[in-house]
Amino acid sequence: MSTVVSQTNFAGLKLRGRGKVRDIYELDDRLLIVATDRLSAFDVVLPTPIPDKGRVLTQISLFWFDKLSDVVPNHILAASNFPKELAPYAAELEGRAMLVRRTEPIPIECVVRGYISGSGWKDYQRTGGICGVALPAGLRESDRLPEPIFTPSTKATSGHDENISFAETVARIGAPLAERLRSISLALYRRASEHATAHGIIIADTKFEFGLVGDDVIWIDEALTPDSSRFWPAGQYSPGRSQPSFDKQYVRDYLERIGWNKQPPAPPLPPDVVAATRDKYREAYQRITGHALD
Ligand SMILES: Nc1ncnc2c1ncn2[C@@H]1O[C@H](COP(=O)(O)OP(=O)(O)OP(=O)(O)O)[C@@H](O)[C@H]1O
Ligand SMILES: [Mg+2]
Repeated sequence: MSTVVSQTNFAGLKLRGRGKVRDIYELDDRLLIVATDRLSAFDVVLPTPIPDKGRVLTQISLFWFDKLSDVVPNHILAASNFPKELAPYAAELEGRAMLVRRTEPIPIECVVRGYISGSGWKDYQRTGGICGVALPAGLRESDRLPEPIFTPSTKATSGHDENISFAETVARIGAPLAERLRSISLALYRRASEHATAHGIIIADTKFEFGLVGDDVIWIDEALTPDSSRFWPAGQYSPGRSQPSFDKQYVRDYLERIGWNKQPPAPPLPPDVVAATRDKYREAYQRITGHALD
């Protein structure tokens, strides 16, 4: 088994910050994004890492960045054969890190939904649409939408992201850029979702991020991973209720079963839940890419 990494501490590099899952370092005009094996559930990071999770996330992102590079350029500079200055950290970086171009991030989360779930389902029940996009009446929870829709949200620096209308997106970043992001996001989603469905995974929705280098729009952050998307097992799909999560269902079921109040700190996970969850991440990788991890 490769190294399990809960957190990195690369003394010779400048830490830019840690997200729930990723540690990010700054190297001049580049960023080093390291996906650790941390897992969050109900928005809280769990104390128990999931072996292979970080590598799965990074390798899935790399697969999509490459496969969809004809739609939009992406930020990847290297994911192996890193520059010499990273040699001291090679064991921890292996398979889980991306060296990327640093861009000016566009402060909009580009969400695309092909199915109605989560905050979209709540919005629909209240308003008959999502983020101001009108939808037909009578949709059930988890139904497939007549066509995928673009439902942006703000990138909150603290707290939860907030869904906004397309008009609000235009007000924030201007019509030309808003329209470009919408059309790129929908194209990425359509292509990815066709591929995933053919391999037994429904991508119910996903979130893209983009950055600017001069006037060029660059696809940044992560690409269509289980952390940035809702993955559902296609074999169990049945609308009219919420769907099991492809990757996190064992964890959520366990945390519900023991009655955790969903406030930090989260309890540790038992070995069988860790093993089953690790298998699901590996399975997601295998289904999407067509070959086993390693
Ligand atoms: N190429 C890039 N150029 C500039 N910024 C980038 C690039 N790629 C990713 N980022 C930014 O790096 C940050 C990644 O943070 P990350 O998602 O790990 O944590 P977070 O958003 O702070 O918290 P959470 O874990 O809850 O998502 C995001 O703000 C993202 O926009
Ligand atoms: Mg983030």
